[in-house]
Amino acid sequence: MNTRTFVKSLAACGLISSLLATSACKTSRSDAADEASAPTPKPSKSMSNYGVTSAPFGKTPEGQEVEVFTLVNKSGVVARIMTYGATLTELHVPDRNGNMGDILLGFDNLEQYMKESPYFGCTTGRYANRIAKGQFTLDGKTYKLATNNDPNHLHGGNKGLDKRVWSAVAAMRPEGPSVRFSYTSPDGEEGYPGTLWMVVTYILTNDNELTIEYEAKTDQATPINLTNHAYFNLKDGGASSNHGHMLQINADYYTPVDATMIPTGEIATVKGTPMDFTTPTAIGARIAQVGTDPKGYDHNYVLRPGKESAMRKIVTVYEPTTGRAMDISTTEPGVQFYSGNFLDGTLTGKYGNVYEYQNAFCLETQHFPDSPNQPKFPSVILRPGETYRHITTHKFYTR
Ligand code: GLA
Repeated sequence: MNTRTFVKSLAACGLISSLLATSACKTSRSDAADEASAPTPKPSKSMSNYGVTSAPFGKTPEGQEVEVFTLVNKSGVVARIMTYGATLTELHVPDRNGNMGDILLGFDNLEQYMKESPYFGCTTGRYANRIAKGQFTLDGKTYKLATNNDPNHLHGGNKGLDKRVWSAVAAMRPEGPSVRFSYTSPDGEEGYPGTLWMVVTYILTNDNELTIEYEAKTDQATPINLTNHAYFNLKDGGASSNHGHMLQINADYYTPVDATMIPTGEIATVKGTPMDFTTPTAIGARIAQVGTDPKGYDHNYVLRPGKESAMRKIVTVYEPTTGRAMDISTTEPGVQFYSGNFLDGTLTGKYGNVYEYQNAFCLETQHFPDSPNQPKFPSVILRPGETYRHITTHKFYTR
């Protein structure tokens, strides 16, 4: 292990609950200092060392240092995650011939993430997706949030979790390399009530699974809905259309939306509609029949329930030309299937890829949009003394 590799035992840092209760496990600033002269990493064949390394990834305009962590598992699968937005920036998985490829859209520099990113790979919140008119009432008090997606609130507001620099600690776990990110959102940040302590842990297992675990605690009742906003293209990382991917979603219902993308409150059947992915179907097969302007999928699916809060497999995606496949399992009640409808060819990302309309898809495991205003949807209110928990796993394999 070289000096750039720093692996800390999980025991040394304690469990997440102790991190939430104390501040014993702070960011690895001293490790970061050791990295000062390290070059910014580029995707390369040299990422084959099992373990976790970190390197600088730039600075925010306020002078905050941003680090990127590289996780490599025993079969050479590589995940990269940076402290800005606790953002997944790269994910290299094999095709059926063993060729590694980065299956995520993103940028190779911090500047573009700060200025142009449509939430590529980030941790999204405090409330992922929309809250109608940026307003909700909780325990008799009305809260006003930014209407950054006119007329609604989207993905936590003007400066959501995706635009914060998180603290990070790397650890080797029995399952594989991991990094735990933490961020404390002060009372009133972006209009939300309560101090919110959050921990998001990425684990790259030796079974080629990327697991994301979320935990949070609050000191006042507050809505919370955390997810990851990775844009996938299993074929080529976003160089071409998503239409050939075969998608299966284990959901018999979805939540229809109004013209501003807010759920109407109806829980509608997918049966007999282009929303039905209960059997594997090409994303492109019926996409032109869905949505308005722009057309495409951007809907929350009501997942078949498992036992309460239990992990269950909810999605399978298969890309026939490369053989790459991904299963998603989650504890969450919903998933937002977004087919990259706002990509329009104006963004150029990693490897010079130009991100055209529908060159990617997102599958954001979550609670339903606008739940703070929809009494019939599962509750998203976290209260003092409770712990918010969400686990999502992405398993990669080939056919
Ligand atoms: C979510 C939303 C979309 C869009 C993207 C980000 O998936 O549902 O409407 O805002 O995020 O561009």
